[in-house]
Amino acid sequence: MEQKKSGGFSGSIGFVLAAAGSAVGVGNIWRFPYLAAKDGGGLFLLIYLALVLTFGFTLLTTDIALGRRTQQGALRAFSSIRPAWGFLGKLTFLVPALIMTYYTVIGGWVSKYMVDFIVGSGTAAAQDGYFTTFITSSVSPIVFTLLFLCVTALVVFGGVEKGVERFARLVMPGLLVMIVGIALFSLTLSHTDESGVTRTGLEGLAVYVIPSFEGLTFSRFLQILLDAMSQLFFSLSVSMGIMITYGSYVKRDVNLNRAVSQIELFDTGVAFLAGMMIIPAVFVFSGTEGMASGPSLMFISLPKVFAAMGGAGRIVGIVFFVMVAFAALTSCVSIMETLVANCMEIFSCSRRRVSLIIGVLSAVAAAVICLGYNALYFELKLPNGAVGQLLDVMDYISNSFLMPAISLLTCVFVGWVVGPQLIIEEMERTGDRFTRKKLYRFMIRYAAPIIMAVLFLQSTGLLSIFFH
Ligand code: PHE
Repeated sequence: MEQKKSGGFSGSIGFVLAAAGSAVGVGNIWRFPYLAAKDGGGLFLLIYLALVLTFGFTLLTTDIALGRRTQQGALRAFSSIRPAWGFLGKLTFLVPALIMTYYTVIGGWVSKYMVDFIVGSGTAAAQDGYFTTFITSSVSPIVFTLLFLCVTALVVFGGVEKGVERFARLVMPGLLVMIVGIALFSLTLSHTDESGVTRTGLEGLAVYVIPSFEGLTFSRFLQILLDAMSQLFFSLSVSMGIMITYGSYVKRDVNLNRAVSQIELFDTGVAFLAGMMIIPAVFVFSGTEGMASGPSLMFISLPKVFAAMGGAGRIVGIVFFVMVAFAALTSCVSIMETLVANCMEIFSCSRRRVSLIIGVLSAVAAAVICLGYNALYFELKLPNGAVGQLLDVMDYISNSFLMPAISLLTCVFVGWVVGPQLIIEEMERTGDRFTRKKLYRFMIRYAAPIIMAVLFLQSTGLLSIFFH
């Protein structure tokens, strides 16, 4: 097949950095550490690592190779191979459309904290009730969300090489330096609380990396496995058409084997470092009970930790929120780029025009999501047991419902309908050996579809119905 695309990544490094930019986001820096703390520290790390090297590798390889092979975004990639499977492309397209509505809102929250730490001292953010007051206010969250969206849109407007790639080349190395810096700093911390107990960063590191098998039952193990699995999807940005789109921008002479390994390493490395940065810091100042889960970790617990650090806390706070904002931006860019690329294909319109229209639509959608904590507040019980607002509902539909379903269907499509050979050929196009070929074949046909089906049943609440 000929290279039809006019725009694309300049080469392997540009591609790897852009894909890593998509993969590394708030999921790595905020969700991964609290899952690790909740799920037995090192035990979670081991399980996660095993999953990255098997499932993560399989799904990432599939998406990227599908994209490069078909030279299409998700919407057309499936139908160009088997027209009857066009529905899967449409389903896949829905995910970034849904995620776009709320990812910008989280980006807005992060930007607000970044500005607070830069302009003020950040101590206001450590006060009780600060976060809730902020997200429930009517104007401020919308302003910051729109600001974040504007930067995202500007990057996408610039095109694949001059926008997306250039931005990732600029941001990703800096991000790595910042995270290594704060992680090392975290290990040097030490604090004595009122009861005279001294806790150190190195003890915190032990809590993070040493596996805890305490109270481990089969059902708890299954829960950890499922937590790790859904984290993996979200973190690698797979099964949502993003990596298919990015794959379609990769030149034919790029060795995809190596690129996939580098993206896995980057994403997992940053997640690991984020844990090394957050868990010891929270442990030193608030003990193991301080590891809140959900949004409160990043927006309530961490500002308190920074405040407790004294003078250094403000600097660490600035570096931290700048880093999260950049990580969120490169992810949001990939979501918007996927929407734009697909719409350019459907409507045969110019990038600039489509970027503008999607930008405006996203702004409206994001404003509605912001109002979910204000004028449109409600509490809905989700099928997985959680209670949520508008943002959580979007997150639930995209991550817990659509993503496992899409992964399952993609595995069936590649493993059974067209056959793994299609992907294997693409991986070997450059003449390099596809080192994990046997593993890939086994995973895509058997292991992945089974686990995806379990994950789907679990997150839709159907699993518990079967077991009761
Ligand atoms: N992978 C990103 C993260 O870990 C999140 C993301 C989700 C990015 C969906 C793009 C699309 O935060």
